[in-house]
Amino acid sequence: MKRITLAITFFLALSVCASTSASTSAKTPPQEKKTLYARLGGYDAIALVVDDFITRLATDKRFEKFLTGFSDDSKKRLRQHILDQFCAAAGGPCVYTGREMRTSHKGLGITEADWDAAAKHLVAALDKYKVPAAEKNDLLAFVVSQKKDIVEK
Ligand code: HEM
Repeated sequence: MKRITLAITFFLALSVCASTSASTSAKTPPQEKKTLYARLGGYDAIALVVDDFITRLATDKRFEKFLTGFSDDSKKRLRQHILDQFCAAAGGPCVYTGREMRTSHKGLGITEADWDAAAKHLVAALDKYKVPAAEKNDLLAFVVSQKKDIVEK
């Protein structure tokens, strides 16, 4: 009889614990903070922006000298590296396997004016796909954080 009472007490204690934790979690749901990656619409949405950005750079005479001699495949690799970098920086499931910004841009002699022109193309690409202001600013903040490693003059 003692054993049965003990078992019932134990069972009751367990159910109280379970219902308490269930009601606690119902009251305080886990904070779901979306990553910038999710807010931007995921990989394909970021890829659309990057492709448009690169098309704008590639068709702007100012950037011709920087891309001269690039094979189609090297251009594809550059595109993939920029996409992976944005995706990873935004908290997405990508891994950036390119070089450091300082290493890959060193010696190109990129000026402040080149930077401004590239930044304008990126803003135009973000606007084309109607990326909301908050997400646009967050991505631009990441890009601007790299300026010191890209601009030389
Ligand atoms: C808007 C900000 C910029 C971002 C986010 C950016 C990002 C990148 C990335 C991720 C790479 C690939 C590095 C690698 O393959 O290891 C790269 C390479 C390169 N970037 Fe930029 N870049 C920016 C601005 C510029 C500007 C303003 C220019 C020229 C005016 C430029 C010219 C180049 C060139 C020529 C390469 C290829 C270097 C090589 O493979 O030898 N970039 N950039």
